[in-house]
Amino acid sequence: MMSSSPRPLFTMALNLRLLPFLVTCMVLVSAACGCADRISTSFPSVFTFGASMIDSGENAVAMPLRSSAEFDPYGSDYFGKPVGRWSNGRTFLDFIMEGLGYDFLHPYLKSVNANFTYGINFASSGSTARNTSATGDDSGGLFCLLVQVDQFIEFQTSTLSLQRGHQARLKMAEHFSESIYFFETGSNDYSVYAFSTDDYDSATSVNTTIAYMRSAFETLYKAGARNFIVMNVITLGCTPGILADTRGNGTYDAYGCKVDWMDLTDLHNRRLVELLEDLRAEYPEATWVLFDAHSLFLDAIRKPQNYGVEYPLKACCGSGGPYNCHSEVLCGKNPMSVNGTYLQWTKCDDPSLYIIWDTVHPVESFAYYMAQGVLTGSHLSPTFDILETVRAIKAARSSSNQVY
Ligand SMILES: *[C@@H]1O[C@H](CO)[C@@H](O)[C@H](O)[C@H]1NC(C)=O
Ligand SMILES: *[C@@H]1O[C@H](CO)[C@@H](O)[C@H](O)[C@H]1NC(C)=O
Ligand SMILES: *[C@@H]1O[C@H](CO)[C@@H](O)[C@H](O)[C@H]1NC(C)=O
Ligand SMILES: *[C@@H]1O[C@H](CO)[C@@H](O)[C@H](O)[C@H]1NC(C)=O
Ligand SMILES: *[C@@H]1O[C@H](CO)[C@@H](O)[C@H](O)[C@H]1NC(C)=O
Repeated sequence: MMSSSPRPLFTMALNLRLLPFLVTCMVLVSAACGCADRISTSFPSVFTFGASMIDSGENAVAMPLRSSAEFDPYGSDYFGKPVGRWSNGRTFLDFIMEGLGYDFLHPYLKSVNANFTYGINFASSGSTARNTSATGDDSGGLFCLLVQVDQFIEFQTSTLSLQRGHQARLKMAEHFSESIYFFETGSNDYSVYAFSTDDYDSATSVNTTIAYMRSAFETLYKAGARNFIVMNVITLGCTPGILADTRGNGTYDAYGCKVDWMDLTDLHNRRLVELLEDLRAEYPEATWVLFDAHSLFLDAIRKPQNYGVEYPLKACCGSGGPYNCHSEVLCGKNPMSVNGTYLQWTKCDDPSLYIIWDTVHPVESFAYYMAQGVLTGSHLSPTFDILETVRAIKAARSSSNQVY
């Protein structure tokens, strides 16, 4: 974990040479099962891109039984078993889908009983915004952002080509345009790479991350996407995973968070605001909305009592230490002795007293607060009424269905 070469912090990686093979298999599988025609045009779909905070089992089906999220105690407080989600229960995306009256989104690569009625989740745990390829035999960082975008384009192209007739194709294209495109990306660009070498430069790193995000957004815009909701990077410097890590210069703020990491995520988030301003000016036909999750986490770190939280800097599940987080034995991993100390994970009695479940991922109860920030619009900028958007399109769709 403290090695100087960049590697995923919380998840391991995939042998690069397998990647082309894997990607080929996936495309064949989704074509063969005919999933592409299962999308519904009665209301806007939700297409999601990003990493482990919203992954609903993508890595688990792509590289089975390699990530902690596939082992006890993940999923135990809601699903009663691990379901490939990095949580004790539902993710904030699950709560958003519930709030919209939709079912949970299935991962793109799911090959059994995939149901894309409400959209598709392309998010892949450990993935970065920048082009990276993980190495090793694990499932972290499988599909970086632009590969996820490629997967979406492939899905969209196949779906459009399945439509019979010009009218049907137009209607489907309109459906893709009015759908919601949600992003939770950038976090691993820092948690994996930041401060791992002496010459690490925050400004360069942030600009690189932002440039890849811009590229993803522009590609999707050109493919017809018009409703973008982009989450910023949370307070990494206050998370047990980063606090238990040795990277950084060791200065802490009044709340116990790492100052250099806080500065880094602030810089990313400022550049993200600028990016969205640029995109608004350049592509005014689209809606570009920021989901400010960072301010929600910051508020909870500073006023934990408002969220019923007692241990804002500690993980609910981990193998001890001041932050209940040891990189050698993360939540869900096999116990082992490290320098004569036997490390074994335990799960806290009441996860709702925590913000973080394991390393950087929220517990289910805090994911609920995150989802409210989106559903009520309180943490969206500019304010965007996602419920009203979905309701209005649904109403327009059902009347136009009668016309057809
Ligand atoms: C997919 O989900 C929708 C919404 O829950 C449901 O109406 C539909 O029957 C499902 N399709 C299949 C093939 O299970
Ligand atoms: C990043 O990957 C995408 C998708 O695979 C590719 O189109 C693009 O050229 C790559 N960009 C760079 C800078 O390597
Ligand atoms: C990063 O981008 C900003 C604004 O786009 C620019 O002012 C700054 O010089 C860039 N920094 C580096 C190190 O590339
Ligand atoms: C650590 O870095 C931050 C800037 O991110 C700076 O404010 C702080 O003074 C630094 N601390 C030390 C000990 O160098
Ligand atoms: C174990 O101890 C050695 C020697 O003190 C130290 O270099 C190493 O970092 C320790 N390993 C861990 C995982 O703490």
